[in-house]
Amino acid sequence: MVFLVFALFWFGSLLIAIISGAPTVYSKDKIIKKALKAVNLKKNQTIIDLGCGNGRVLIIASREFGARGVGVEISPFYYLLTKLNVFLSGESRNVRVYFGNFKKYAKLVSEADVVYLYLYDRVIRDIEPMISKNLITGAKVVSVAFLFANHKGRTIDGSPKIYIYS
Ligand SMILES: C[S@@+](CC[C@H](N)C(=O)[O-])C[C@H]1O[C@@H](n2cnc3c(N)ncnc32)[C@H](O)[C@@H]1O
Repeated sequence: MVFLVFALFWFGSLLIAIISGAPTVYSKDKIIKKALKAVNLKKNQTIIDLGCGNGRVLIIASREFGARGVGVEISPFYYLLTKLNVFLSGESRNVRVYFGNFKKYAKLVSEADVVYLYLYDRVIRDIEPMISKNLITGAKVVSVAFLFANHKGRTIDGSPKIYIYS
């Protein structure tokens, strides 16, 4: 019975992530570090991961770069997983996680020095105006694998490619 409830919760959460247009595929640690180095993330800066999945971006940003992490996640399972992973990593002091659609958290973007995206084209196109409108001067956007369509940036080759906009 407990297993069935968990399985339904997990499956429902997976569906929400898929319907929202960006199913949960995690960035590998190697890629996260490469991306955060490429944007020169510094101690005490704030990074926001729109669609934070399992929370690894926030944990690595806090643990290895000394940055403050902010995550937003629409899927209940992955929201709770991020909370748990952040707690277990001991980085809770430096990381905040919000549940819901990141479109409702536009104001958080204006706190960020770095916006981290690993989302599909369609989703990025949809939120690009919201990000542009709220981005503070000097802030950077780093997008893994998918272009931030209406902006010119630089590309870091590899698999996947990493796109940087500043
Ligand atoms: C491809 S995963 C990336 C996870 C994490 N950022 C990483 O790089 O490992 C995309 C995540 O975005 C979440 N997501 C998709 N649409 C969302 C929305 N509108 N609001 C908040 N989260 C969303 C999905 O549930 C999924 O966990």
